[in-house]
Amino acid sequence: MNIGIIGSGALGSNIARAFAAKGISATIANKSGPASLATLTAELGPTIAAGTIEQAAGADIVVVAVPWEALETLVKGLPAWNNRIVIDATNPVLFLAPDSPDRNDPGNPLAAYGIKAIDLGDQYASAIFSKLVPGARVVKAFNHVDANVLPQPQVAGGQRTMFYAGDDAAAKADVRKLLEAAGYFAVDLGALDVGGPLMQLPFGALAMSNFAKV
Ligand SMILES: NC(=O)c1ccc[n+]([C@@H]2O[C@H](COP(=O)([O-])OP(=O)(O)OC[C@H]3O[C@@H](n4cnc5c(N)ncnc54)[C@H](OP(=O)(O)O)[C@@H]3O)[C@@H](O)[C@H]2O)c1
Repeated sequence: MNIGIIGSGALGSNIARAFAAKGISATIANKSGPASLATLTAELGPTIAAGTIEQAAGADIVVVAVPWEALETLVKGLPAWNNRIVIDATNPVLFLAPDSPDRNDPGNPLAAYGIKAIDLGDQYASAIFSKLVPGARVVKAFNHVDANVLPQPQVAGGQRTMFYAGDDAAAKADVRKLLEAAGYFAVDLGALDVGGPLMQLPFGALAMSNFAKV
């Protein structure tokens, strides 16, 4: 199965780093275009190729690692998903600019972390995400840890635990294989409406949890 990663920031680049370390091939894309990825692909070696968003979005498994507020723009004009697997690695948070007055907002408990929760009403994030990618089989993964830890699947004398959740058993089995190939201990949190809210930042009970299988 070929893999596309959309987003090459903290999350997308570290997913690519984790894949590269295990020789897993992927095409990575961002808003700025393939030429902007030359330094990253030089660092990561031959299994990670820079591509256009359309190329990455055409893969069998597409990891979406862009800011929440970029999703609607991203999905416009992409080819039909045709039952392909899309990994929702996003979280519904706004990144606050360093000089933003919101960084000092006493009403925002996350201000010190430079983020602000996006109000989704009574919906969970992957339900909204799924509506943006009709016809895709959505699995949530990679979103519940700090991106910087992803290139270290071995931790504390064991394997880093990676949660995933989704409604399609075959899609989940393929994502599980990918997580295992990357060296993680994959743990199925169940259906998207069960596991998704548990994993979702900023307030999911398992968000930012760091477990290891020893
Ligand atoms: N950072 C973490 O530790 C972490 C952990 C778990 C989950 N997440 C989630 O992962 C997502 C990405 O976070 P991040 O920290 O990686 O953000 P980031 O460092 O700001 O990177 C964002 C990436 O998305 C790309 N992008 C933005 N708009 C786009 C568009 N319309 N089409 C295609 N690509 C677009 C950017 O392209 P350019 O490079 O060309 O600007 C950039 O590569 C967010 O939903 C975040 O909540 C982050």
